Amino acid sequence: MSKLITGNIIENIAALVKAELETAPGCHDFDHTLRVLRNAEKIADELPEANIQIVRIAALLHDIARPEEMARKGAVCHAELGVDKAEAILEEYDCSELLIPKICECIRSHRFRGNGPAPESIEAKIIFDADKLDSIGAVGIGRAFHFAGRENARVHNTEEEALNSSPYSREDSAYREYLVKLRLLESRMLTKPGKKLAVERSEFMHLFFRQLNREVFG
Ligand SMILES: [Fe+2]
Ligand SMILES: [Fe+2]
Repeated sequence: MSKLITGNIIENIAALVKAELETAPGCHDFDHTLRVLRNAEKIADELPEANIQIVRIAALLHDIARPEEMARKGAVCHAELGVDKAEAILEEYDCSELLIPKICECIRSHRFRGNGPAPESIEAKIIFDADKLDSIGAVGIGRAFHFAGRENARVHNTEEEALNSSPYSREDSAYREYLVKLRLLESRMLTKPGKKLAVERSEFMHLFFRQLNREVFG
C-alpha cells in the first residue's frame, strides 16, 4: 500500500509545515495553512472529481516557502521556491511519483495574478480558491488589520488617502487593502463552491467597511 493513502503522510507533513512556519507573522502562519486546508476540504466536498489527497497535501504545503520570501524581502517567489521544497519533502515521504507533479502544480499556481502559470487542474483551482477565501470575510478583515498594524499604518483613512498611497506607507491601511485587492477577489474565484463562499464572505466585508466609514466619517 502506498504511504500516501494512509493518514500518516498528512500528519507528518502537517507537523513539518508547523515547525517551518513557527516564526512566520500572523497573516501567513500555520493557522493560515490550517484555515486554507479547511476551506479546500469544504470546496472539495462539492467536487467529487477532485483527488482529496492531492488537495490536502497541496493545502498544507502551499506556503511552505513564505519564510524565505519574507527573509529575502520578495526577491524570491514563495510559489516557485515552494515547488522545489515540496518536491524534496514529498520524495522523502515516498509520495507516489504520479502525485508529486499534481501537488506541485497546485503550489506553483496558487498565487496566480494574471501572469505566471494559471491553475488548470481541479485540485489547483480548489487550492487557489481556498487561499483567496482566507483573505476575505471576517477572517480577511482580521488579517488586513493585523498586517496594517505590523507595518504601523493608520487604523482607517479616506478612500482618497488610501488610493493615493503606496504599499508599506502610513496610509497602507486595511481599507486600502480592501479597496485595491480584497473587494475584487470574489470575481476571481475559479470553482462554483469557492465562488459561493466568496460571495457570502464578501457581503459581510462590504458591510463592515461601509459601517466603518459611517462610524469614522459619517
Ligand atoms: Fe501563498
Ligand atoms: Fe496562503
